[in-house]
Amino acid sequence: MGSMIDNYIGSEIDLEVITPLFKEDDYEIYWLGIDNETAFRCNVYLIKAGNEAIIIDPGSRAFFDEVKQRALEIVPLENIKGLILCHQDPDVAASMVDWLTLKSDIIIYSSDRTNVLLPHYGIEDYQYYSINQNPVYTFENGRKIEFVEAPFLHFPGAFTTYCLSSKFVFSGDIWAALDINWELVVSDFEEHINNMNLFHIDYMASNRAAKGYVQKIENKEIDAILPQHGSIINKAHVDEALDYLRTLRCGIDIAYGES
Ligand SMILES: [Fe+2]
Ligand SMILES: [Fe+2]
Repeated sequence: MGSMIDNYIGSEIDLEVITPLFKEDDYEIYWLGIDNETAFRCNVYLIKAGNEAIIIDPGSRAFFDEVKQRALEIVPLENIKGLILCHQDPDVAASMVDWLTLKSDIIIYSSDRTNVLLPHYGIEDYQYYSINQNPVYTFENGRKIEFVEAPFLHFPGAFTTYCLSSKFVFSGDIWAALDINWELVVSDFEEHINNMNLFHIDYMASNRAAKGYVQKIENKEIDAILPQHGSIINKAHVDEALDYLRTLRCGIDIAYGES
């Protein structure tokens, strides 16, 4: 069956139900929401590999109940094995304490720089998987995801997650966009560039960082980019999205001027 992302272009999705994005045998990927109507809305994703489920960027404590309920519609609690936290911002990671309270053996997949900050949410005793030490994770059913470090985009220890089955890049704040007229999948990329600019120009460190990250992933086959804010970028626009980062002027390029 494969990716369903193109099916959602130009269509309004039902925000009351879970949205499947990829299905192939015992491997599935879902968009869990959330449906808060602000420009800074957050995307939470879930990968279900056999009996193992991992939630990507579970998000704020404010939406924990909703995210939990949606995750549990897909898998039983015992199957939720881990959380991927692409950096420590509260909109990405704060609900880790709620998840760990519910299930103390959940594994936190994150970077070493993020992991020194996460205990400040209030729980310091948890199982930690270092993406810096182990950049490829293999699920029990053999499916693989690869963590790609993205220093200074925007946090020094930020990273993205590439799924080798779906060819999806879960990009965290990279390619994030702020938009009022949100749609699940980008339909007009020209317009979307304005929405990405609203986020990137202020948050991302510099063109050198953006370009450097593109060099790490441009040789991978990418079928879609799934950011933590804004719309999913489908395959038709992946090349333009890579070009966007290659030419982006942002952060210190602007704040301190170019020498
Ligand atoms: Fe962030
Ligand atoms: Fe964010």
